[in-house]
Amino acid sequence: MKRLLAANPDTLQLVDPGFSTALIGWQKKHGRHALPWQKTRDAYRIWLSEIMLQQTQVAAVVPYYQRFLLRFPDVASLAAAPVEDVMAHWSGLGYYTRARNLHRCAQIVAAQYAGRFPDDPDLLAELPGIGRSTAAAIAAFAYGKRAAILDGNVKRVFARVFGIDGYPGEKAVENQLWLRAAALLPAREIESYTQGLMDLGATVCTRSKPSCGTCPFAQRCVALRDDRVSELPLRKQKKAIPERQTAMLLLIDEQQVLLEQRPPHGIWGGLLSLPELALPEAGNPAEFEAQLAQAATPFGVVSGYDKLPAFSHTFTHFKLHIAPYRVELSRRHAIAGQLQHQWLRADCVADAPLPAPVKKLLLAVFAGQGSKTAKLL
Ligand code: ADE
Repeated sequence: MKRLLAANPDTLQLVDPGFSTALIGWQKKHGRHALPWQKTRDAYRIWLSEIMLQQTQVAAVVPYYQRFLLRFPDVASLAAAPVEDVMAHWSGLGYYTRARNLHRCAQIVAAQYAGRFPDDPDLLAELPGIGRSTAAAIAAFAYGKRAAILDGNVKRVFARVFGIDGYPGEKAVENQLWLRAAALLPAREIESYTQGLMDLGATVCTRSKPSCGTCPFAQRCVALRDDRVSELPLRKQKKAIPERQTAMLLLIDEQQVLLEQRPPHGIWGGLLSLPELALPEAGNPAEFEAQLAQAATPFGVVSGYDKLPAFSHTFTHFKLHIAPYRVELSRRHAIAGQLQHQWLRADCVADAPLPAPVKKLLLAVFAGQGSKTAKLL
């Protein structure tokens, strides 16, 4: 599919020649010029570097790149090699799908393009492992094509310089960024411009501790002006996690607390924990008191209860609000035929198989003994 950008009125609005002029000037003076894949027009070498650099930092890529080229100096040698040999030369770089795609891509270029990578970014993007941004980088560096890149670093530069709100992983925001990337392309010197975007994102406009003092866009950067550099680009919105409420009963007799074995599955599966009740409805304490008495009766005679300070515990998928109630027993019954219940001595709490928030609660309660139950049933 051909992308028609010049005719798009949204793109025209974003045209800003000062941006590319400043970036090209900065790249020539302050950018990187001695990386091993620079100063070549060999599409094979440029393609290899771009694939290796997709998820890996420059410093880690350099030795792999050099070793790889010694063994596979051109697309024909790579296409003809057994995949195991390719994997062995990739071993340690990570993200091994890249190596499998690399091999398949070399075979396609060898078979369908007579060993010459196409110069059209749209054709490049149809090859395995080459996304839209990588295709543009190859076309620009190898063939001087006017094509827009937009990797993570470039998204960050644009989000900050132009003050773009929204999470760049979101399709609508990404589409806007692509329009801007295309509109900003210079008429000439696409290589220095493309390298400049990469260099600026990697060395100045970094995710943390950016060097805004040396940035060629410091005078016009919206994020710097508005003191939003650390905020932009916006991070993915965390989904609100569901919340649940529970009342936990601390049935205490002397220096012992009643614990209940939790079912084997679900949260805290198989651990000992406190008996729980549905939280009382606001304004209807009588029903809750009745339930509390019913839950406690098998274990003794209830003389009073206290509401302790509520607290929350966050699991990966939900947040649990815990309302603890300390229940005082005046007389304890023997536990009959209820193997899932047991009494635990205060001095054994620290070593018992309890959920962390329950252990914390019990340690705090036993440490602060002496506070008398206020309400009597
Ligand atoms: N990251 C992606 N492509 C790069 C390149 N050509 N030079 C430096 N870093 C890069």
